[in-house]
Amino acid sequence: MTRPRRILVTSALPYANGPIHLGHLVEYIQTDIWVRFQKMRGHQCHYVCADDTHGTPIMLRAEQEGIPPEALIARVHEEHRRDFAGFHVAFDNYYTTHSEETRELAETIYARLKARGLIEARAVEQYYDPVKDLFLPDRFIRGQCPRCQAKDQYGDSCEVCGATYAPTELIEPYSALSGAAPVRRESLHYFFKLGKCQDFLKIWTRAGHLQEEAANKMEEWFEAGLDDWDISRDAPYFGFEIPGAPGKFFYVWLDAPIGYMGSFKNLCRRRGWDFDAYWNKDSEAELYHFIGKDILYFHALFWPAMLEHADFRTPSQIFAHGFLTVNGEKMSKSRGTFITAESYLRQGLNPEWLRYYYACKLNGSLEDIDLNLEDFVARVNSDLVGKYLNIASRTAGFIVKRFQGKLGQPAPSAALEDSFEGVAEEIAAHYENREYGRAIRKIMEVADAVNRYIDTHKPWELARSQDHDPQLQAVCSTALSLFRDLTVYLKPVLPHLAGEVERFLNAPLTWSALSQPLPAGHTINPYQHLMTRIDPQQVEALVKANQASLQAAPPSQAEPPQQAVEPVAATIGLEDFAKVDLRIARILRAESVPGADKLLKLTLDLGEARPRTVFAGIKSAYDPAHLEGQLTVMVANLAPRKMRFGLSEGMVLAASDGRGGPFLLSPDAGAQPGMRVK
Ligand code: MSP
Ligand code: ZN
Repeated sequence: MTRPRRILVTSALPYANGPIHLGHLVEYIQTDIWVRFQKMRGHQCHYVCADDTHGTPIMLRAEQEGIPPEALIARVHEEHRRDFAGFHVAFDNYYTTHSEETRELAETIYARLKARGLIEARAVEQYYDPVKDLFLPDRFIRGQCPRCQAKDQYGDSCEVCGATYAPTELIEPYSALSGAAPVRRESLHYFFKLGKCQDFLKIWTRAGHLQEEAANKMEEWFEAGLDDWDISRDAPYFGFEIPGAPGKFFYVWLDAPIGYMGSFKNLCRRRGWDFDAYWNKDSEAELYHFIGKDILYFHALFWPAMLEHADFRTPSQIFAHGFLTVNGEKMSKSRGTFITAESYLRQGLNPEWLRYYYACKLNGSLEDIDLNLEDFVARVNSDLVGKYLNIASRTAGFIVKRFQGKLGQPAPSAALEDSFEGVAEEIAAHYENREYGRAIRKIMEVADAVNRYIDTHKPWELARSQDHDPQLQAVCSTALSLFRDLTVYLKPVLPHLAGEVERFLNAPLTWSALSQPLPAGHTINPYQHLMTRIDPQQVEALVKANQASLQAAPPSQAEPPQQAVEPVAATIGLEDFAKVDLRIARILRAESVPGADKLLKLTLDLGEARPRTVFAGIKSAYDPAHLEGQLTVMVANLAPRKMRFGLSEGMVLAASDGRGGPFLLSPDAGAQPGMRVK
């Protein structure tokens, strides 16, 4: 192998006010596969990310929840970490832009740009909400489209006719926050003079840092002319205050990419590494940003221009990918295809099924990728279970039962050897180029060849007579050694499964191991089932769960709700609260109750000797089958109540009001039946 490269890799920083969904995961899984591949090849590769925590939507969301923004971003941080870990996305650091490292770097970069004459202050007139007392971002202004007169359109574009315009062009504008008519107000803003960077950018964007398609897109933007970039926002704003400009804050998109540096700086501090060696102008380290095509403008223009003129190195390459569609359409809450990472895991679907499916679909281009749910089931079942794992499940038993787990001398056929010729390097090249779909196709071709070899040599027939023992052992050993190779190839995609195979084969799954087959005399462990098939019903249940959670979903940042919330009840002391014994309960059974159209009969395990029965008015919102096995919260010391259908021994907790419900409460992962909630 050539000498190890030093590589720093990032994925875009997800906003800290929403859950991770399957669209996001396209990017994080794509990046994680690449990073795992580089690490397997012996390179020094670091993968950093963070939450993107600043801006008006996050500030408003926190306000609406009645908590400080710091509390909101801390909670979401934990949720994001949990979701990424659940999908085996292994960051070397997952940080936050709301950090001292990011603040310092943002101030440094700003000061350097200013010293170069690239920052300019000038007054601009914008819409201001006189009730909420803040300047309104375009998305929070609504009104009638100036072109087609459609009502209720956003401040920057019309969803009916597709027109884009300035918020000041809207007819009868109103604030989506307060409903008030916005007023025009003047304020001093700071601008980054992007136009002055045009010469640099024209060269940079054609110097191999961008995909061809992306570079062409830049061309269009150059032709349209580069506007100066408004990098300041007025208080109230959740972000970093601009030094020397009280009441003015850096616009979230200024500090967001600096968050890549901040996260890495934090990692360097903890590990004692040299940050500058990666970020100085003359750095020999490689820097790659994985992003979605929607944020190309920021990463291919603003970001390199900022870095270049603040005396930092620029990215080696920007890797943009397309958007996820589900069953050929945009993810949709009403169709149940806006699927959160959490719900996928909660429904018990295996994260590696999705990693595999995405790998099949991913390539180095900006094309959108489609998650076709039927194809997802078919593909995973036929490739992973039917082809790849089938090799081990058809051969390992003979080795364990007939040869005490010991492998013999492999005896590949000429055809089989041909199909493995040069494959490792070919697959490696596909991974390197982010052509994962090609890598997977190649891997499955090899799996097919191994299965054909097994079909030809029929170990189950050889096993009928002891006379064929040497042959039986050789055929199975050959297959298992190649199964090892296939697992090495798949390891960046299926890291968890590969770990299990490592234990089963009792052998390290490294790229360098590929040069030698598993030796004669090597002992393997009994084969245990490594992956189940996807049951199409699981996928149906997943879609249903995401449809059901529609009403429960937090309002999206684009549509802040203006709902009257029921007034909070009179204050009580802790002693009153302590009288209520709340417990975690597992729903063992959920059944309809004949003659009661609102009720479900729940059988709840509280860790007591006998389960309890509770009748709950949740039938309108829940399919009983989906509740079984779930944890919830119940009032355990409520006096039993005799109902027409039987005795109800407690109450489960659920939220509801005019906006929808009931929504059952459920505890975070780790809670056990019987635990007290207090
Ligand atoms: N906070 C910004 C990024 C700042 S980077 C300095 C942002 N956040 S995001 O949460 O909206 O998106 C994070 C990443 O996920 C982006 O690269 C975005 O393109 C990607 N995706 C979000 N939805 C997606 C799909 N439906 N499909 C594929 N990728 C998607 O943008
Ligand atoms: Zn219109």
